[in-house]
Amino acid sequence: MPHTPKRISIFILITLFIFIFAGCTGKKDEPAQSAPADAGSDMTLEELAEYNGKDDNPAYIAVDGVIYDVSRNSNWKAGEHNGYSAGNDVSELIEKISPHGKRVLNKLPVVGNVIE
Ligand code: HEM
Repeated sequence: MPHTPKRISIFILITLFIFIFAGCTGKKDEPAQSAPADAGSDMTLEELAEYNGKDDNPAYIAVDGVIYDVSRNSNWKAGEHNGYSAGNDVSELIEKISPHGKRVLNKLPVVGNVIE
């Protein structure tokens, strides 16, 4: 049987091709979830009050209807900053009392908007 080794080689090649093709068309990994489940959440001022940075709660502040996350800001440890607390609308305070004004806001992650 002089043809047998050639046939075996072809059989192995075809089998290899099928395996490679099957591997390439396999389902790709699902992309990692890119945002936390509660990202982009709008809330009322009443709900905002819970985000005061205490008891493991995140620390959020509202300015001009936009809610910012100050949880990871070193100036807002435990939701407190120079005598002011997170969980509040600080629109007037940041403009009239703080030395820096609203320019500090553009560094903060936005959580969502204040709703009625
Ligand atoms: C309730 C009103 C206020 C809000 C919403 C506010 C907000 C902030 C925020 C978000 C930062 C962080 C900025 C960063 O990461 O670079 C910051 C920093 C700072 N805040 Fe305030 N702040 C307020 C009141 C005050 C007051 C009354 C003072 C001073 C007595 C003050 C003094 C400072 C200083 C010195 C820094 C760090 C340096 C700077 O970024 O200018 N803040 N503030």
